[in-house]
Amino acid sequence: MTAGAQPFPDGANLGPINVDSPPIPAAAERPPPEDWTGRRLVVDVTAVAHGGHCVARFDGRVLFVRHTLPGERVEVLVTEDGGGSFARADAVRVLKPAPGRVEAPCRYAGPGGCGGCDFQHVTLAAQLDLKATVVAEQLSRLAGLDREIDVQSLPPAPLGWRRRIRFAVTPDARLGLRAHRSHRIVPVEVCLIGAPGVGDSELLAQNWRAQPGEPDRPALSEVELAVDDRGEVAVLGTGAVHRHQRRPRPDRRGNRRGRAPEPPPVQQLAGPARLSYTVAGRDFDVSPGGFWQTHPGAAAAFTGAVSAAAELRSGDRVLDLYAGAGLFTAQLAAEVGPSGAVVALEGDRAAVADATTNLIAFEWATVTRASVLPATVVEAAETLRGVDVVVLDPPRTGAGRALMAALIDLRPRVIVYVACDPAALARDVRFALDAGWQLDELSAFDTFPMTHHVECVAALRPGVAAADPQKERSPTEPD
Ligand SMILES: C[S@@+](CC[C@H](N)C(=O)[O-])C[C@H]1O[C@@H](n2cnc3c(N)ncnc32)[C@H](O)[C@@H]1O
Repeated sequence: MTAGAQPFPDGANLGPINVDSPPIPAAAERPPPEDWTGRRLVVDVTAVAHGGHCVARFDGRVLFVRHTLPGERVEVLVTEDGGGSFARADAVRVLKPAPGRVEAPCRYAGPGGCGGCDFQHVTLAAQLDLKATVVAEQLSRLAGLDREIDVQSLPPAPLGWRRRIRFAVTPDARLGLRAHRSHRIVPVEVCLIGAPGVGDSELLAQNWRAQPGEPDRPALSEVELAVDDRGEVAVLGTGAVHRHQRRPRPDRRGNRRGRAPEPPPVQQLAGPARLSYTVAGRDFDVSPGGFWQTHPGAAAAFTGAVSAAAELRSGDRVLDLYAGAGLFTAQLAAEVGPSGAVVALEGDRAAVADATTNLIAFEWATVTRASVLPATVVEAAETLRGVDVVVLDPPRTGAGRALMAALIDLRPRVIVYVACDPAALARDVRFALDAGWQLDELSAFDTFPMTHHVECVAALRPGVAAADPQKERSPTEPD
């Protein structure tokens, strides 16, 4: 990369370079780029990019534009210009709309508004197409694979699905959501993507005002609402960070002196001590602050896709990485049966406690509190004395090269990869392809309607070149 250039955000695919462009001068001769922040420009939007924005070009530079669609002509306001090869902008006037455009149902969506949703102005069908394009493009660009992708919608959609929402508290003690790429809080009285119980205004108004605070400062910096399958709502409050608790400023060399502050305390303000969910006839107990799939259809859809991709046999030995409250672990344990074994790794203490409770019926499944690393994975595999199947559901950063190499070295029949970021997935698929593996089934689910997020479940299997001759040889074959 040229010195001073910035990487494109979220692995966006910018398409081919325009062959008519004049030759690019060497970095030393190039004039410093003009700062376009605040400029209004008229642009033609060409493609969707990963991250909830679309691509347009102006004067040889790339603009990442929110609140628009491919095929539109829009007037944009440049919101951020780091002086590199791209700038960010909001579409503020639509001059030629695309067929997928609708009036946003949410009054807080749009330029300068709440940053929670990216696609309030897009029909559900067009949102699915945009997400399919993004997944396909990431696979093509980062893994070198050309695939047709179909993104499945799950009811409810596109509104009323989000079962956990964290609101920020404004200095004048109102609940709100943050603007895009900003700490600014946009006060809201209702969140339309919120499920009943967490998105409606009455709850938003009542659940936090009862908290004692000082007249000029709210007692809480955040309020989180989570609803379970019974409709019970847990309310969690995060204490405000006091000035003296903030991280010390770094000195000139980037060193921070002084102690790191304690994380702000989280307290339960209302609701049940445990949230309850049922998936495929199995009950799960989750602590109110613990991880659980947000969309009501997600847990069942992902469990089904993981089960189909894993093709488990009775007696199999399975590693379940980033196990949360044991959602997949329970399914995997049921399928391998008592002659098999499942070892789950999870980093969060509360999630490990939840998973331990949820797996009580499966003596052959254990959950260990550990950070998922090549070393911890190897150790877990040793306790299993071999691994037939690996399931992993990492956070947005994905697995990375070293972990993928460690998983491939275990020589499982299949690695089932549940991914919330298609760019991280595609990068990790590339590592597997380079080791001679292949990408087989890939399912994609729209479990975050109105946002750019999309979840994928991918099955990676050893290709012919990577197959272990010991494992592949039939028992009747002579040596
Ligand atoms: C996307 S959630 C998946 C949980 C579970 N598979 C499910 O679907 O309910 C990811 C989980 O990974 C855990 N986690 C994140 N980073 C981790 C790490 N480095 N090591 C271990 N666990 C981690 C989080 O605490 C969280 O429970």
